[in-house]
Amino acid sequence: MKISVIGCGYLGAVHAAAMVELGHEVVGIDVDAKKIAQLALGLPPFFEPGLPEILTSAMATGRLRFSTDISEVAGSRVHFVAVGTPQKPGSYAADLTYVDAAVQALLPHLGEGDLVVGKSTVPVGTATRLAGIIAASGTGATLAWNPEFLREGFAVKDTISPDRLVYGVAAGEPGEHATALLNEIYAVALAADTPLVITDFATAELVKVAANAFLATKISFINAMAEIAEVTGADVTQLADAIGYDNRIGRRFLGAGVGFGGGCLPKDIRAFTARAEELGRGDSVAFLKEVDAINLRRRQRAINLTVSALGGSVYNAKVAVLGLSFKPHSDDVRDSPALDVAVQLHGLGANVVATDPQGIENSRARHPQLTYSTDLEETLREADAVVLVTEWPEFRHLDPAWVGGLVKNKIVIDGRNSFDAATWRAAGWTYYGLGRP
Ligand code: UDX
Repeated sequence: MKISVIGCGYLGAVHAAAMVELGHEVVGIDVDAKKIAQLALGLPPFFEPGLPEILTSAMATGRLRFSTDISEVAGSRVHFVAVGTPQKPGSYAADLTYVDAAVQALLPHLGEGDLVVGKSTVPVGTATRLAGIIAASGTGATLAWNPEFLREGFAVKDTISPDRLVYGVAAGEPGEHATALLNEIYAVALAADTPLVITDFATAELVKVAANAFLATKISFINAMAEIAEVTGADVTQLADAIGYDNRIGRRFLGAGVGFGGGCLPKDIRAFTARAEELGRGDSVAFLKEVDAINLRRRQRAINLTVSALGGSVYNAKVAVLGLSFKPHSDDVRDSPALDVAVQLHGLGANVVATDPQGIENSRARHPQLTYSTDLEETLREADAVVLVTEWPEFRHLDPAWVGGLVKNKIVIDGRNSFDAATWRAAGWTYYGLGRP
């Protein structure tokens, strides 16, 4: 099928290439000329494992092109809207400027039977409003909402073989038409028995924010237990193992540490709170404010541990910060707890040297005042303390004896509870975990 993807960021670029992989013909549109120029050469503008490969193979088929010119969507039957919905400055609400602009830009190019498919994460009620705008345009096009659950680092796999598909469609014939088109697009996943939920607009929009709210709550739950562990001498990692054996709970997303970040979880729970307040149901999700507050406190805990480990001040101390991206296998530093810890330690007068396998460039663009190094040895050499904040495999598997031979002080703050405390202590280190004795 001929389809268009509007917005070629972490979501849209992967979606465009993956749809070609599934047999479709795709045009990817973005207003960012630099991004489009790179993608047109088959080069991803960000780090995502597996994306370079599928982009190259998709370009080779001749069925994938990129453009800044929206009129290139002509001939496509389905138009995916995959633009960003960042947090509005000075507010918790989502900024819908890009979604609205994408739909407005599409209108002159829509024809009878065309389908606009929203993928962006939006406040509940947006789809109904946009469906009204499309209906009023007299183009004969309709709308569906098809939320995306991809995780950065696993985006290609999550797009090609998703855990589930959700279609939010209108009632009656337009809904049946939308379902038929989406079934054609996702034929490969459906043939592999991927669960499918066909529902209304509001449910589809809410599924996405509810899923992210649940995940954020699970992480903050275990981080709240870490805070209790810290005043009782308990070990939150063992606690997580023990409760995780209960199938109803499960061990995943019970990783206590400096908490969640990235382009989704933090802004999505805030936007959800803002929208619920608009709907007069702020009380229903008031707990998400606590989830957010717990999350932000954990970064401070890692900073406080570093300060106290260095005798009450980090001034002039060399602190080696391992990790900048919000999680491993990503170069994304949006709302990254790791980058925040590095910046705050720098603000306290520490001589921070930070390293990350992929996150340096994006971090430098935001915080040029920090010292970055691509060389792990240089980062660690003569350090007064080592702070792990993103659990990249290359950090998790560090040999404490080797690191010990480089640093000035064997002090480690494990912000992701990724190191084996006993091994590091046995190698002469003073080890501090979050929520661990
Ligand atoms: C998330 C959702 O998982 C995905 O379904 C949605 O489409 C977008 O938002 P992503 O932002 O890529 O995906 O990251 P995710 O793997 O969910 O991790 C989010 C954050 O939580 C990271 O900062 C990670 O370090 C942190 N985290 C995760 C923890 O602190 N502890 C855990 O146990 C798990």
